[in-house]
Amino acid sequence: MKQDYHDFNTLLLHGSSDRDPLTGGLSTPIYQVSTFHRDSDKPSKYDYSRSANPTRDVLEDHIAQLEMGIQGFAFSSGMAAISTILLLFSPGDHLVVSKDIYGGAYRLFTQVFNQWQLEVDFVDITNTEEIKTAIKDNTKGIYFEILSNPFLRVADLKTIVDICKQNNLVSIVDNTFLPPYYCRPLEFGADIVLHSATKFLNGHSDVIAGVSAVNCPNLAKRLAFLQNAIGAVLGPQDSWLLLRGMKTLGIRLERQTKSAEEIAKWLSEQPWIKKLYYSGLASHPGKEILDNISSGPGMIITFEVKDSVTKENLMKKLSLPAVAVSLGAVESILTHPATMSHAGMPEEVREAQGITDRIFRFSVGLEHPLDLMNDFSNSIS
Ligand SMILES: Cc1ncc(COP(=O)(O)O)c(C=O)c1O
Repeated sequence: MKQDYHDFNTLLLHGSSDRDPLTGGLSTPIYQVSTFHRDSDKPSKYDYSRSANPTRDVLEDHIAQLEMGIQGFAFSSGMAAISTILLLFSPGDHLVVSKDIYGGAYRLFTQVFNQWQLEVDFVDITNTEEIKTAIKDNTKGIYFEILSNPFLRVADLKTIVDICKQNNLVSIVDNTFLPPYYCRPLEFGADIVLHSATKFLNGHSDVIAGVSAVNCPNLAKRLAFLQNAIGAVLGPQDSWLLLRGMKTLGIRLERQTKSAEEIAKWLSEQPWIKKLYYSGLASHPGKEILDNISSGPGMIITFEVKDSVTKENLMKKLSLPAVAVSLGAVESILTHPATMSHAGMPEEVREAQGITDRIFRFSVGLEHPLDLMNDFSNSIS
């Protein structure tokens, strides 16, 4: 693998996906095919596209390379990636899970995998003692997001990986909020990293996809088996779109981060803001931990509005950001977690975590920050 480049942007362009080996084409061909003719009795590498497809292969190699892993996997959604990974465990196993996770993942644990008798204890992932106390004889893994959704709480990756190693647990990191341009958990000893590639990796609001990478041959083998057995794979067309989207990951993130820093500072000075959460602010709890594992602070801002601001002010009057259930796109997106991304959580759990009606999540896109600030000012006035 060519990983000795000066800059990650070079790897994004000239990693395993840079040229089609057959033609020299600068874009990977879309092998829109379900099955492959066999010339002899011996099955070749390509047999049936659920098991392997040449376009998806290029994407999976590229993901492995970007995450510094030995094998990558592409799934039909982030949830498909999480579901397939959870099937590494058996009924009766126990997982320690951050309570501050994406609402859909919470729903998967509490309404789907509970039927598979996968036991779960939700913990404050920023509290090392709480994590340690939750570990039981049947605990097999710890599942968390480094930058949590929506409050951007910072999980101490290195400490959690150490706890996992000491207790023989699998560490599973959903790093959707911190793409590999900034942070590569496998480099710090995590076992499995996954992303909703629908978000920053693809970046263009036109694909639903999930990816994962691992560093351990045994985990790679088991996950490859499950990926084929379950069959929630990414199609060739979407694999190609994701390959194309990722070429500009670096420049998108640099610009989005710069804008997020400016907008967070400006928002924090607005009289209608009650509280602001942005992992790029020096005052953000856990900032020191984050700086040690990530070369960038992230592009998401979460804020709580004062009583004087109605939901309609923001959701109906803003003209530039989409009001939508997603993040990480070239377009800015405003989400109301209580009714959108975290609607999969029961109200009492949501409220207990502070995800009230007054909380908004803002994913900063590529619009000029001054235009976004003007738009906010106009919607509030
Ligand atoms: C942190 C996180 N993980 C996983 C998912 C699920 O991904 P997908 O929507 O691609 O299935 C999401 C979706 O919003 C997310 O924000």
